[in-house]
Amino acid sequence: MGKIPEYTIEKIKDANDIVDVVSAYLPLKKKGANYWARCPFHEEKTASFSVSPSKQIYHCFGCGSGGNVLNFVMEYEKLSFGEALKMLAERVNIPLEFEQVSPGEQSDTGKLRDMHLRAIEIYHETLYSPSGKAALDYLHARGISDDTIKAFRLGYAPETWDFLVSRLSGSFPGELIFKSGLAVRSKKDMRLFDRFRERVMFPVFDERGNPVGFGGRLMNADAKDAKYLNSPETPIYNKRRILYGLNVTREMIRREKKALVVEGYMDFLQLYQHGFVNVVAGSGTAFTSEHARLLRRFADEAVLCYDGDEAGQKAALRTAFSVAAYKLECRVLTLPKEEDPDSYLRKEGAEAFFRLEAEAQPLMEFLREYYRPAGMSIREKSEAISHLLEELRSFPDPVYREMFTREIAKLFRVDESTLLRQINRQSARIPAPEKNTFSGEKPKHFKTQGEAAEYFLLNLMINGKLPVRKAGLRYLSPVLFQHPFLKQVLEALLKVLNNNVSIPAGHIPDKVEDAKCKQFIIQLLMEEQNGIDEEKVFIDSLKQLELQGLRQDYDKLTRELNDAPPAEVPLILKKQMENLEARKKLDIRYNKDIFLEVET
Ligand code: CTP
Ligand code: MN
Repeated sequence: MGKIPEYTIEKIKDANDIVDVVSAYLPLKKKGANYWARCPFHEEKTASFSVSPSKQIYHCFGCGSGGNVLNFVMEYEKLSFGEALKMLAERVNIPLEFEQVSPGEQSDTGKLRDMHLRAIEIYHETLYSPSGKAALDYLHARGISDDTIKAFRLGYAPETWDFLVSRLSGSFPGELIFKSGLAVRSKKDMRLFDRFRERVMFPVFDERGNPVGFGGRLMNADAKDAKYLNSPETPIYNKRRILYGLNVTREMIRREKKALVVEGYMDFLQLYQHGFVNVVAGSGTAFTSEHARLLRRFADEAVLCYDGDEAGQKAALRTAFSVAAYKLECRVLTLPKEEDPDSYLRKEGAEAFFRLEAEAQPLMEFLREYYRPAGMSIREKSEAISHLLEELRSFPDPVYREMFTREIAKLFRVDESTLLRQINRQSARIPAPEKNTFSGEKPKHFKTQGEAAEYFLLNLMINGKLPVRKAGLRYLSPVLFQHPFLKQVLEALLKVLNNNVSIPAGHIPDKVEDAKCKQFIIQLLMEEQNGIDEEKVFIDSLKQLELQGLRQDYDKLTRELNDAPPAEVPLILKKQMENLEARKKLDIRYNKDIFLEVET
């Protein structure tokens, strides 16, 4: 199949004015430069959802959702990219033309997918060849039928060190084989050899059925290598947003509006084979907020079926919050201690599992059972509460966050208002880097002047005039930034602007891959810039950061001074003097001339 060319996508986006499109769903009111409404993606009483006609993007200051017109339709109508594009194309009568790509000019993505399809077939054939006999016996012995093996294209990677590489290298350049993650390079002579050897192979697909990678299992579990080896992240494999099996089970999940979530490939296959066809598995990573969002497109409810042991229950707890944050009803199925879904089904059968599923506990009940607060000491309770509030912090919808906070107060019999105060204080802070939401942060929430300066600089790199952006490219560097998340945003921005410094601000988010950075950039885009002196703000903020760095260096020197042997004292004192000098020179180094320099 061909793909839709980039210029057609752009044409469709351009022809669909975001204000017109959104107005068909929500009553928009103009206020200042933007339009406002109550957000359709979370419950709220006041309007924090805004649409910018000049930048053609939307953003909700309450829940943090945002993007361009395509993203809005995808999120509102729960459509895939292709489906949303089709709808918008029809709306403005633009025919959706597909590009005919000849193999020679295919993108890397296309080639990597082709390569994976080939590898899948090679491994699958091998499983049914004499050299795959032991692997096939192994799968049969674990109760996996030939129908299932064929439906999920399971395979076998034999022991030969270049079994796959030698079969691919006729059709694909070595560089690309390396990029695919299917091969690794020998340190000694840089030769390629197979990543997967002597393993049962589970091909992994995205929800549209494109191959993205593999998981490979050793048959002999007490070998010293890891039981499972997975493809690394590649241009076609983003583990944070792939759910194993969803390509096959999505329609069943949509029909039942419910998904069973398991941890392992084997669990998935066994459930599927026993008729529980609305199942998905993580693919060797913890369940992320992106997984939750993906699942939300198909289901209203998730039933977590994790291992019965302590590790499994702990993982279920963590997943439950990721899932609940995105408004999936969440229930947790508890298995006997020694069992996982695969072993339980084999032992007890489908009906027993069906009963357990019916008894799966809603999240709060599961928490009561998990913690048993009556038997906890005060210290244990307080630790559990902090941990839970920390989880709640990543809930994009403040109303949801509040409701769960109240439930937790009830569970541990503590005063609601205390917890509410605490969570509100916490959520006004910048999120920890590994959290996935960034909702409504304004400079006033930043802890330090340095963080506010970092925020202003990012704002200017996006919304500022060309000379300011150019100065930013020249003078800003991630080492200047201290806040880990803001540093990450800067890195992403520098990458985009280095490519094209005069890119229209509204197009920047499309070029940023990381979902959290993208969301934050959209939020910055929505900030109105009413006649601020961009150059002055830029210089002041830059000086602030430099000054902060110098102060920290100075303090470090002072600490060194305390334990330094006498001989080194003069040197440290000299460094401190230089530090003070450098501070004085900041005013000379950074003045409005920096915008002239970069103009030429
Ligand atoms: N996993 C992994 N790397 C490991 C162990 C596990 O990537 N070293 C991932 C795999 O995706 C695996 C899932 O975590 O399917 C669950 O792990 P586990 O429960 O140990 O494996 P099972 O799927 O139960 O596999 P099996 O029953 O074959 O032991
Ligand atoms: Mn297992």
